[in-house]
Amino acid sequence: MSRILLLVAVSIVVSSQKEVVIKNEKCRTCNFLVNTFDEGLKKTARHHFAGGDTAWEEKNLGKYKTSETRLIEVLEGVCKKSSLPNIDKFTGITELEFKCASQLEKHEETIEEYYYNQQQNNMSIWLCVEQLKLCCPGGHFGKNCEKCPGLNEGADACFGKGACHGDGSREGSGKCKCEAGYTGNLCRHCDNEYFEESKTEKGVVCKQCHEGCLGICSSEGPKGCSKCKNGWAMVEGEGCQDVNECSNQSACTKEHEVCVNTIGSYRCDCEEGYKKDDEGKCQLDVEAHPDRPFMPIAQQLKIISFSSLIIIITFVVWHGSPVLYVLTGIAIVALILVDLYVNPDTIPDEAKRFLGLY
Ligand SMILES: *[C@@H]1O[C@H](CO)[C@@H](O)[C@H](O)[C@H]1NC(C)=O
Ligand SMILES: *[C@@H]1O[C@H](CO)[C@@H](O)[C@H](O)[C@H]1NC(C)=O
Repeated sequence: MSRILLLVAVSIVVSSQKEVVIKNEKCRTCNFLVNTFDEGLKKTARHHFAGGDTAWEEKNLGKYKTSETRLIEVLEGVCKKSSLPNIDKFTGITELEFKCASQLEKHEETIEEYYYNQQQNNMSIWLCVEQLKLCCPGGHFGKNCEKCPGLNEGADACFGKGACHGDGSREGSGKCKCEAGYTGNLCRHCDNEYFEESKTEKGVVCKQCHEGCLGICSSEGPKGCSKCKNGWAMVEGEGCQDVNECSNQSACTKEHEVCVNTIGSYRCDCEEGYKKDDEGKCQLDVEAHPDRPFMPIAQQLKIISFSSLIIIITFVVWHGSPVLYVLTGIAIVALILVDLYVNPDTIPDEAKRFLGLY
């Protein structure tokens, strides 16, 4: 019985630690209102009153800044998605325009107060944070806009290395969710496979260990490793070095396999012209069309020498000259010798190209 209770207690603790997703809708809707309002202010910044009297305009430009004419123009675009070039920040809020319009209606007087008397202030802070209390200032979270961890110590929220849960909203727990490489409640420590590069009261800077390190390391590069990962070996004075598994004869032993060393591991590929079948055996690849000469070079050489021989003999018989008989004899002996003793692999590429063997 007590075990079951314990289990229940544990599961409650675990589930309560699960991060609550913050929708922060009212605050974001208020910022949507502010963004569209700002856009309207920008668009009308250089509009003048209709009419062409410059002197009269000069005199009234100051007044135009806070005129009702301009306010009406600005309000025309407020709470409309089409007023903003980019609304990515506001995705996930259903009926955004409608919710924004409700806020506008409800807080019309406050918004007019901003327009007529508070334009020197940042509207997002003045309206959404201070007046309507829908958002918290940056680095603050929760109902009462408490400070995120780190602010009391004079550092950034989560010491600049994590996200404070609920930052800027009237929601959240203020817990830090650290960036990759950082850990601890305040993100002031380096995670596994990272080392501390520097540390001040404002936080810590962590860097990733070398890829061959297992677990912790003390500095950058292979020499900083305490232990090496599989496929890496600790070499005196060099740190963790990649093991060339292919130098081990027993790495790839199946027929037609070739060993390919990779960083930290190795692969058994098939020889050229072979590919793996379903069982992982290398089989002749019938679909491959290797780029080879249509005939072995030795055979091509033979064809050339014998056809030359036939031409010479025909020539000699036609002329019937004794000198030519002797020369023919020499040529035949030379060709036979070439054919018997010249290894086509030793013929220079230049000569092969000259003979048209490619
Ligand atoms: C107003 O303040 C917010 C939050 O600090 C900031 O993101 C925004 O750029 C500011 N707006 C202007 C117009 O300075
Ligand atoms: C070679 O590889 C085999 C099989 O993977 C292994 O058992 C053996 O220890 C290796 N030998 C060396 C010298 O690394």
